Amino acid sequence: MKYRRVDDRVPIFATPHTTGASMRTIVAGNWKMNKDLAGATGLVDALVEGAVSLPTNVEVVIAPAFPFLAESVIRARGSRIMVAAQNCHEKESGAYTGEVSPSMLKSIGVQACIVGHSERRQFFGESDALIGAKVAALLAHGITPIFCCGERKEERESGGHFQVVTEQMKGALGRFSNAELSCVVIAYEPVWAIGTGLTATKEQAQEMHAHIRSLLHTHGAEVAAAVPVLYGGSCKPDNAEGLFSQPDVNGGLIGGAALDAAQFAELVGIAGRLKSA
Ligand code: PGA
Repeated sequence: MKYRRVDDRVPIFATPHTTGASMRTIVAGNWKMNKDLAGATGLVDALVEGAVSLPTNVEVVIAPAFPFLAESVIRARGSRIMVAAQNCHEKESGAYTGEVSPSMLKSIGVQACIVGHSERRQFFGESDALIGAKVAALLAHGITPIFCCGERKEERESGGHFQVVTEQMKGALGRFSNAELSCVVIAYEPVWAIGTGLTATKEQAQEMHAHIRSLLHTHGAEVAAAVPVLYGGSCKPDNAEGLFSQPDVNGGLIGGAALDAAQFAELVGIAGRLKSA
């Protein structure tokens, strides 16, 4: 595949990554395999309707399932809500039955794509190398990769969590230039906290986010300053305050609570309030 140069890319989110700019705050909803057409369009419409009262310092992203992406883009157009996919294939096109390529996503106006979610790693055997190839393909099309990493329960219990996240980051993102890395969004999602109701404490989140930031720092201060690191894993309005107030937590990747317009808007509101200081 022929990749376009970084410079050719269209700025993806409202605020382009620029050195010295204050860190962006993002709240993204991962709808997973939930909702039918009526449910998905109803949720997009409710969010769009409420979007005018959302804080303007937060970038708001929703990731509906593939069949509803095009319709979601159309309904969200003109609002502050950006539409992401939950996965993609790493190739441009071809005989890959059932798969969806970044160029297809681009053609319908999708602006971001979650990659390497722990459910993809666990149930679909995705490796760091494959995830890295997907990140490369997305970058080539000017789609923001939201790269997920995070340890399993037993890995945390044995004290290996920093090592696991280091290896996931190096394995998937080690190949990219600083300019490319600066276009990535990272989501730290401890697997034991996803959909379980358990959440990392704000201290656990902050220390892992600081670790991720230090890994980014090895590529230079400008990379560390450009890449937002979101927290994900049972993040809800009643625990978001502690998590979002941490200095290295730049917002959240939200599963369950993103399926409800009021809860999701509340999370955006909390992020906006805490990050406006
Ligand atoms: P959860 O999911 O908020 O339901 O734990 C988060 C995610 O998997 O992105």
